[in-house]
Amino acid sequence: MHHPLEPHEISEEIERASQFLRNAERVVVLTGAGISAESGVPTFRGSGGLWHGHNIYDVATPEAFARDPKMVWEFYNFRREGLAQIKPNPGHYALVVLEQRFAKNCFTIVTQNIDGLHRAAGSRNIQELHGNLRRIKCSQCEFIEDRDLEPLPSLPKCPKCAALLRPDVVWFGETLPMAAWMASEQAASHCDCFLVVGTSAIVFPAAGLISHAKDHGAKIVEINMEQTQASSIADVGLYGPSGEILPKIVAHLS
Ligand code: OAD
Repeated sequence: MHHPLEPHEISEEIERASQFLRNAERVVVLTGAGISAESGVPTFRGSGGLWHGHNIYDVATPEAFARDPKMVWEFYNFRREGLAQIKPNPGHYALVVLEQRFAKNCFTIVTQNIDGLHRAAGSRNIQELHGNLRRIKCSQCEFIEDRDLEPLPSLPKCPKCAALLRPDVVWFGETLPMAAWMASEQAASHCDCFLVVGTSAIVFPAAGLISHAKDHGAKIVEINMEQTQASSIADVGLYGPSGEILPKIVAHLS
């Protein structure tokens, strides 16, 4: 168990994290639901988690969609509606400022989140490993489209082939989007510093990027409310809200 850090210990750890970032030419930031928690998006596994009251296998698998597409769409339309009220928080904005310190394509955000808040904040180089709630795609043909937060019917149909549309998100048992995965793995192989922010680091293959980066020589900085599966390989651990810690790191750097 880690103990709550004293103020002087926090600043020492922030100094160490800042040092890694100052020395780095290339940086990757892996984000999870925790970075959006302060925007009001519930995390998956915390109390009051997103799946609370829903068995995940009832809403987030291809089998669930085949069995009961209306119920699956109800769930995703509910989440899409929720996004209209949600704004990026200081953690997202701190990453926008951090990106500006690095050369083009030398700073990559790899996110497991489907809320689009990194883009809304203004980050540029983002790989979305689990898709995006604002996009829909056809369950049969190649049709794919950004519908932003436009209200959708309870069973939307493909304008090309009339099959059912589905959210462009990755469900359990599905493979990750190939281009996003390859780019993320490539970035993790070449980065000098790898930040792990607000993820329980238990869902693979995304979580595997952390040890992959470590094996390729990156310093690992973890920012989370608590220790996780990634903590044992982290070079620095900052335990507290990312909406407070990330702005502190950025302020310390400038
Ligand atoms: P989890 O809900 O598993 O973990 C959220 C993490 O954020 C936890 O470790 C919390 O301690 C931490 N946390 C909560 N509030 C925080 C805050 N204010 N600041 C910093 N950290 C905070 O979410 P993910 O790790 O994102 O996949 O889950 C990974 C994947 O599991 C999701 O992308 C989703 C789910 O199944 C798919 O849907 C494919």
